[in-house]
Order: sequence, then C-alpha cells, then structure tokens
Amino acid sequence: MWNQIVPQPRTIRPASGRFTVTASLRVVLPDSEDSRWVRRINDAASRLLSLPFPLLTVVGSETTDALESTLLIEDSAVPASSTPADGYELLVTSSDITIRCASTAGRAHALATLTYGLLLSGDRSLPAVHITDTPVSPWRGFMLDVARHFFPIESLHHILDFLWLLRLNRFHLHLTDDQGWRLPVPGYPRLTEIGGTRPAGTSDDQWTGGSYEATELREIDRHAEALGIVVVPEVDLPGHASAALAAYPELSCSGAQHRVETRWGIFPAVVCAHSSEVRNFLTEVYRTLTEIFGGEFIHVGGDEVPTKPWEECPHCSALEDPYQTIVGVMAEEVIAAGRRPIAWDEASALDLPAETIIINWRGPEGAMNALRRGYDLILAPERRATYLDHRHRDSPLEPGRLGVCTVNDSSSFAPEPYVQTHRTGEPASGTIIGGQANLWTEGVRFHREVEYMAFLRLAAVAQGLWTGAPGSDAERFTDSLQTLRDRLRYAGYAVYPGSFE
Ligand code: ACM
Ligand code: ZN
Repeated sequence: MWNQIVPQPRTIRPASGRFTVTASLRVVLPDSEDSRWVRRINDAASRLLSLPFPLLTVVGSETTDALESTLLIEDSAVPASSTPADGYELLVTSSDITIRCASTAGRAHALATLTYGLLLSGDRSLPAVHITDTPVSPWRGFMLDVARHFFPIESLHHILDFLWLLRLNRFHLHLTDDQGWRLPVPGYPRLTEIGGTRPAGTSDDQWTGGSYEATELREIDRHAEALGIVVVPEVDLPGHASAALAAYPELSCSGAQHRVETRWGIFPAVVCAHSSEVRNFLTEVYRTLTEIFGGEFIHVGGDEVPTKPWEECPHCSALEDPYQTIVGVMAEEVIAAGRRPIAWDEASALDLPAETIIINWRGPEGAMNALRRGYDLILAPERRATYLDHRHRDSPLEPGRLGVCTVNDSSSFAPEPYVQTHRTGEPASGTIIGGQANLWTEGVRFHREVEYMAFLRLAAVAQGLWTGAPGSDAERFTDSLQTLRDRLRYAGYAVYPGSFE
C-alpha cells in the first residue's frame, strides 16, 4: 500500500503489524510549541479524508505512556544521515506513530504521507512501516493564474490541501494580468475597483470580477506555511498591465486611457520604464506584498513585453534598454524589500541582480543560457510537460487551449533530465532548483475545472520533482496515479477521467 504513494517516498521498509486509526491521534507537543499548525493540518486532512473525528488533537506535553493513539513528533531530532531540512521519517508500529523531522516542512510532508496512507487504506488500518524520505528538488511548485479568471479564497484553500498531499512546497499566485488585478494595494484603490472587473459585455463577465482582501491572503499564507508550502506572489509587470493602466493611466508612457482587457493575448500595455510615479508604485506594490506574505520570494513577472510604447515615449526611447531598466528596478526594489526576486524566462537575457531566479517556460536552450548567465532556475516547460491549460488529449471534446499535454507527458518530466542533452562543456554557474506546473486560466472559469485540468497532471509532475527520476517504473507509477484518481473521485474531486496517453 505505502508504495502507491505519489510522489514515491525514497525508502519504504514494511514491518509486521498494523495500526488502526480508530480515534484522533493525540499529538504530544512541547509546552513552548505553537499548536496552531495542528488545527491547520487537521483541517486539510479532514477535507481529504472525511473521517468522523478529527485526525489530530493536541494533548500537551504530558508523558504519553497512558495514552492510546499517540502521534509522537520528534522535532529536534535530525533524521539519520544527511537528510536535508525537508526530509522526514515516519514510523508506524502496531502501537503508535512517530515522526522525526528537522523543520516545519518536514513535519508537514510526514503528515501528508500519513494522510495519503489513510486515503489509500480505506478502512483506516495502516500496515506498519518505516519510511525515510527526502525530496531531490528544493522547488516543487504549482502556479495558479487568478487574474484571467478570479478564484475565490475557498478555492485557494482547497488547492492548498492538494498541494500538501503531494508534498509540493510552492504555491505561486499570478495575481495580476491584462484581464484582472486581484491584489489590494493601499493608496491605489482603483487597482481592484476598476482593475478587478472586466467591462460589461464580456461573454463570461459575471464570473470574472473580484479581488482578495489582504486579510484573506494573509490567512492563505499562514495556512500554507503550516502545510510546508511557501506562497509566491506575482505582480506581472512591466507588460500584461492593461488592468493596472485602466485604473491608473498615468503609469503608462502616454497617459492614454486603457481598459481592462476582454480578449486573450499579448497587448501593448506596459508601464513607463522611466517615470518616477511608476517607481513609487512599485515600491508600494512590493511593500504590500511583504506585509501580506511571509515567504522569501516575490515574482516580478517580466514575460511577453511589447516594446512599442517605449519606442514612442520621449523618456523611454532615450534609455539604452528600457526593458533592462524597468525589470532591473523591479528586482532591486524586491531586494530592498528584503525578498528574492523571480522573473519569467524572457528576463534571463537581462543583467539582473545575481540572486534573481528565472522560471524557464520556453525550452531547454533558454534554460541553459540562463544557467550560463549564472541564474538559479525553475523549470516549467510549456511544451508537453507542465502547462496544465493544455488539453489532456488531442480531441475536440477535451477542454483546454494551445496544445496537448497528456498525463504521461507530465509523468515524464523531471528538471535535470529535461536539460541534460543540452548541457555542453560550457560552464554554467546557475543551479536548477526545481520545477513547477502552471495553470493559466483563460479557459478555466470554475474551481471544478481547476481540479479537472490540474490535479492528475500535477501529481505526475510532483513525482519527477520529488524523486528527480521520472519513468523508472512507468507501469507501477501509472497504477499509483490511477489509484490516486479513484480515491480523489471517491472524495468528490472532479479529476480528469480519461486516458493517460
Ligand atoms: C508565460 O507563459 N507567459 C510565462
Ligand atoms: Zn515611457
């Protein structure tokens, strides 16, 4: 049973006996330890398992001798050998369960594996086992575009449950785009008032308005943290700025009125690369993000930037390279705010601060160039691997856009093998830190469609990110994915039901 877990844990040693979960596991914590994470993990597990009792309850720091159903969490003990911070050990015997971990993330991953075990077992009876596990890739992510369509905060919580189950650790929120601005920024109320809703007449406009409250996003961030997940907020500039410019036309070069886009595509809506108003705006945006989100990273965007407005601007056209200037300012602002900047692929051609991370989506040649330029790299290949807006199959009956990406395509992806054949003798000082799957939502309007488009292929991607080696036992992995799909359907998820090929 345990070997059906996705992603596959590193070592699984079966033992004799079984532990049956008949009541809440009593979590024994040191007095000093914050117990709020227990409720948060319990909430996620409850939604996935529908147990008739809470999976976890806190019983304080008393000795555990007299207690049944004990879950011992040994936080201080670094697991054997060189297990990095995100690793864990899970020991299930017929009398109790022990978790050893060295970090919040390790603890969250251990509890995810335990929960996955319960999801697989059906009757809450777990075969005794000793699992030691650690991920290969430090960055294992999922990006959701909440700009093209707005997803309510409940949707984000629900998605976090699933990321947690798969031991993913980054939730990238694409918060702004031409078709919507979802982030409240103090001092700039029109961003969400005007930029948050598409004009009347859009075919699907009744579904597309909305923005988050800062308190809601903060709660997502805290909840994610307890689940071992870092939220990575993205405000996509200097391009993809129609919604921002509809709200504040003075941020553009010409000052001309823009409108929140009702079409999909790439538009010449860019912020001025020279203006001090834009710089002040960026400072406020990144200040807002650091106040809401506690994680290390801020994504500045940088993709698909038409340069025509800059060529027509007397100030920008006097700059040697307006794209370099404005993305450089954005990265520096993020660093000044105490965070690490991330930018899309296109910006890897620029000279950005050395700590900038690039997300490559256009192919392995560009990935290698970014590595040679010294950037740390996240891989999110558009072509047949991690773009989950693409169709599951080449059929007019399948929802999706712009391409096909089968479950097996996603199962075949892992970061290092993806660039391997493009590695040459040339030195590449950057490091591949992992990968992520992206769900763009031009064609995804409802939460159920997120489940359909993302969940199964995301599980496939999680395997390659965790183990670093996809496809080593394809038949067994297919079987594991099918089992996961069955359990998720039973739990009420709208997962894709069709062929993997
Ligand atoms: C992207 O797909 N434009 C990042
Ligand atoms: Zn300008």
